[in-house]
Amino acid sequence: MNILVTGGAGYIGSVTTAALMGAGHQVTVYDNLVKGHKKAIPEGANFILAAIQDTDTLNNVLDSKPFDAVIHFAAFIEAGESMRDPGRYFTNNTCHSHTLIQAAVAHGIKRFVFSSTAAVYASKNSPIAEDDPLAPANVYGHTKLMIEQMLEWYRKIYGLHYAGLRYFNASGAAPDRGEDHLPETHLIPLTLQVALGQREAISIFGADYPTPDGSCIRDYIHVQDLATAHVLAVDALADKDRLIYNLGNGGGYSVKEVIQVAREVTGHPIPSIETERRPGDAPILVASSEKIFHELGWQPQFPSLHDIIETAWEWHSCHPQGYT
Ligand code: UFG
Repeated sequence: MNILVTGGAGYIGSVTTAALMGAGHQVTVYDNLVKGHKKAIPEGANFILAAIQDTDTLNNVLDSKPFDAVIHFAAFIEAGESMRDPGRYFTNNTCHSHTLIQAAVAHGIKRFVFSSTAAVYASKNSPIAEDDPLAPANVYGHTKLMIEQMLEWYRKIYGLHYAGLRYFNASGAAPDRGEDHLPETHLIPLTLQVALGQREAISIFGADYPTPDGSCIRDYIHVQDLATAHVLAVDALADKDRLIYNLGNGGGYSVKEVIQVAREVTGHPIPSIETERRPGDAPILVASSEKIFHELGWQPQFPSLHDIIETAWEWHSCHPQGYT
């Protein structure tokens, strides 16, 4: 297939681009490099340096050849920032995604795979299933839910086939691609920066949550396993018009447990400091991914947190300054 991948220079987007190419697809990466890295784009992918809201460029690209599918990663992703600057998230995520969906439909593209998030849930259940209550605890999650809801109307009205893939905590690295956000806000890369001597200590944002050790619990899923799910989903959209899947390992680890595993992997003491809660953090987010296991045969290859952190550590040790 000819596939347009927005955000294909980003962390999950670049690893997925490589997986799509490995499966024989032709990929055009569309990325403004505000967050992504040119060096992350796999060799052989076509690259367009542009923003989605640059509709002249977007329409020219979509006119240039018949695309079979769009996979849409491009977004701002920080829950904490979205609570300080909501407008930035509603504009960049919701409005620009709508521009892309409209352009895709206008060009007759039938398949749309969307990067959604565990942050759409308000569920108190653990693990969380796809039909659990939706009510985001932060603006970031709300912007993603709005996009899922728009896609549902485009399915009903125009017959667009779409997949909403709700990622839990993307982590780990491929041998040649890893996590490099600026600024970095994610727990595992920040913890590994302590082991690299780049920061003094890791902060634990809240130790008074209703969890066994008081810190938040998350379900960490390897970036290559996320990539595989996209390859399966874009194929399955040939005859399915609505696929909503959680992508996680079904096991939760607290912030303190993650730091402890990082100490074991790196052999570094990694000092930690307990600080205030971060606004917008849900206490526990753990996926049930039974639905995609049964329907598409997806099976994570990196279910162990130790292995996930080890792959991240290998990449960060070889790229202490990220891609730069
Ligand atoms: N945390 C710390 N200290 C830090 C950084 C994070 O204690 O320095 C904590 C957070 O408070 C949270 C946990 O570690 O409890 C994980 O935080 P991350 O920032 O690594 O990830 P989030 O869970 O906030 O968000 C990530 C993605 C979202 C996605 C979500 C789904 O960034 O896009 O996982 O669970 F929606």
